[in-house]
Amino acid sequence: MTSKEIRDQFLEFFKNKEHRIVSSAPVVPFDDPTLLFTNAGMNQFKDVFLGKGNRDYNRAADTQKCIRVSGKHNDLEEVGHDTYHHTFFEMLGNWSFGDYYKEEAIIWAWELLTEVWKLPKERLWATVYRTDDEAFELWKTKTDINPDHILRFDEKDNFWEMGETGPCGPCSEIHINIGDDYNNPDFVNADSPECIEIWNLVFIQNNRDETGKLHDLPAKHIDTGMGFERICAVIQGKKSNYDTDVFMPIINAISDLCGIKYLHKMEDENDIAMRVIADHIRTLTIAIADGATPGNEGRGYVLRRILRRAARYGRKLNLTQPFMHKLIDVVIENLGEIFPELKDNKDNVQKIVKAEEESFNATLDRGIELFEQISEKAKSDNAKTISGDDVFKLYDTFGFPVDLTNVMAKEKGFEIDEARFDELMNEQKERARQSTKSKISSANVTEEGLDNFEISSDSTTVFTGYDELKSEAEIIGHKIENGTIYLILDRSPFYVESGGQVSDKGNIFIGDTHLLVTELAKVDNKVIHVVNNESKIEIKNGMKVTAEVDGMRRWNIMRNHTATHLLHEALREVLGKHVQQSGSSVGPDGFRFDFTHFEKVKKEEIEAIESIVNEKIRENIALQHHKDTPFEDAKKMGALMFFGDKYGDKVNVVQFGDFTLEFCGGTHVKNSSQIGLFKITNESSIASGVRRIEAVTGAGVEKYIKQQESRIQNSENRIEELNDEKKKLEKEIAELKLQEKLGGIDSIVSSPFEVNGISLFKGKVEATNMDELKSMGDELRKKIKSGVGVLISAFEEKVGIVCVVSDDLIKDKKLMAGKIVGAVAKLVGGGGGGRPHLATAGGKDISKIDEALEGVNEIVSRLI
Ligand code: ALA
Repeated sequence: MTSKEIRDQFLEFFKNKEHRIVSSAPVVPFDDPTLLFTNAGMNQFKDVFLGKGNRDYNRAADTQKCIRVSGKHNDLEEVGHDTYHHTFFEMLGNWSFGDYYKEEAIIWAWELLTEVWKLPKERLWATVYRTDDEAFELWKTKTDINPDHILRFDEKDNFWEMGETGPCGPCSEIHINIGDDYNNPDFVNADSPECIEIWNLVFIQNNRDETGKLHDLPAKHIDTGMGFERICAVIQGKKSNYDTDVFMPIINAISDLCGIKYLHKMEDENDIAMRVIADHIRTLTIAIADGATPGNEGRGYVLRRILRRAARYGRKLNLTQPFMHKLIDVVIENLGEIFPELKDNKDNVQKIVKAEEESFNATLDRGIELFEQISEKAKSDNAKTISGDDVFKLYDTFGFPVDLTNVMAKEKGFEIDEARFDELMNEQKERARQSTKSKISSANVTEEGLDNFEISSDSTTVFTGYDELKSEAEIIGHKIENGTIYLILDRSPFYVESGGQVSDKGNIFIGDTHLLVTELAKVDNKVIHVVNNESKIEIKNGMKVTAEVDGMRRWNIMRNHTATHLLHEALREVLGKHVQQSGSSVGPDGFRFDFTHFEKVKKEEIEAIESIVNEKIRENIALQHHKDTPFEDAKKMGALMFFGDKYGDKVNVVQFGDFTLEFCGGTHVKNSSQIGLFKITNESSIASGVRRIEAVTGAGVEKYIKQQESRIQNSENRIEELNDEKKKLEKEIAELKLQEKLGGIDSIVSSPFEVNGISLFKGKVEATNMDELKSMGDELRKKIKSGVGVLISAFEEKVGIVCVVSDDLIKDKKLMAGKIVGAVAKLVGGGGGGRPHLATAGGKDISKIDEALEGVNEIVSRLI
């Protein structure tokens, strides 16, 4: 039987028992800070178990995408080294919400396993919680399991909990022993690859709170989970999950890439590497398709670690170039039908994985080299441990996640000093924290939960802020700590930060007293308003208050929020459908929008995007706010679902005409034209394959324009200044040049000719115009006591001549500069004249300059 048939039969079986077949929730959970990734089928029903939500059915079944790499359920270390743990797996589950309980759950599980799938009864084992006589009896009397195969275990094995807090209860597990010694109870719960748990039936009846206390839930529920890959191995008669049709296509693809055969052996190093890679690429594909991206924090960092771990195992198979992205096709061939979001996001997933591989590859070899040195040194020192400082260095400089270094160390027989590493990490985090510390933050209000609150009502806070900015309300819970008041209201217009939109600010009025709201947090859907306590008013539950949001600020936020939706769609139109929102931050002064894209957004593209958004603003499109729409209906409407959007039972959908339709819990303008204007102010890269756009709207654009205007004004002023400076410098240069040229006259002054007892100073100079030549003449005249001077220069393809005569010669010899210059000019085909002491003339024939200079002696002697 193929894995697909097995999955279908499971769902069919429970459909016939009146279960609603639902879709898998995404692996990126919404609204559950206790979870990094969806780790069990029941996650999406947590609110129902806790009595805080309900569905329009009370029996459900599905196959849920689960990732177990962090928190309470973390299987990372086992993956690849054994045959049945995975970081990503499918969990087949059936649920009863206050409907059937232990009896049906046990009988139906037995029926499916032994009658539909015909598993050998003699190999099956059932375990129950040590005090659960009821479940023990049900197994014994309502099924035909071998009574010796019913065993009791304690909390560790038979009390299931979702995490440190949350719904939990005793459970009953079904194990199968496929080995020879299948009647031996010692194999059950003993980590044997031949005797594995296949199905867990949890009897949810408790909730564990933050202090570790167990409380009874209002109703009793069934939550079951069967490992899909494990049941496939059992039914297909394989000893390892990796030998089933779920994994073999991926392993074959890896084998093809590296040219090494898969040997189906537990201990073989190459086999282990192939199993790790096959496992990790499934996790990456699933998580990225659901909107997570590799990064430096939280969920993103888990993905980065997984990818780096797989890349490093690839090196063992001689895969030194990025290769993981090449396996995504096979993964999607296998899972794309049951999880269509994989097909929709395939290009994106491939691009992100490839970009991430490429960026790690760049440092991987250098890191491996450093590790070799470190381990050689440790070996020669006879050390058993790699120091925490070295582990930290590998992490900090080469991006080696600690678990990767651990794997490498183990292979060489070393431990790592994780305690010291943690210490260094904490120091680093502390340094980062110090720089962003604030007194009260919503994060620590949330962390403290409802501890020490005096609560007068079970109800949650109704959000009135979609329709009004001012609401009459009643205090239904409060506490006062260190002079700060924390108020819970029955209704409130205050939006609490979520989906990227920042919290509101504003005031709460109690009679004449006015309290400034400084921080907001949401715990169990109750909104906590943190207010200042300068008035020293006495707070009591039941008091009537008026809660009023700072309207101007909120309107700016709404403009920005709606603009993110318009921008999102414009990006998809201009850049392509691969664009996916990967984060956003919407505040009153502007917003940031992060999205997947693989190159810088070009200038023309930015302009096109701005035009589309502004066009949509001008189109004056009315908001259609579909509140509390059933999830399936919203999906049918074609609403975009992205990371950070609510995938609960009922969702809010925000629509502007036929342009944009998105799941969104935020607040929006009533009409696109209220945004005013939209302007992108910056575009940058924030991670490989993720770009960020920063933008402003409305009054923000006005402010931006003013800033730009003042920048332009400043630039203009500066240009003017620079121009003046330029003119000044040019003048200085010209003067300097002239000085230099005048300096040339000195050599003429020092070597005069003798004509009939008169000194004659003559020579060729380099003037650029007649004025300059005239200045040179003046200069020459100043320098000679008595004599005649003639300077000739070529400029502007003409000849210029200046002649000067000293006063004594004008007087005594009647020598006139004008006459001399006229005669010289004739020699170069020109003419001119002037006053007796200085005269200029022009000529045309540059080639005759030397001849003319020759001729001066004769002219002067003639004119004496
Ligand atoms: N929630 C149970 C589990 O994860 C079924 O094992």
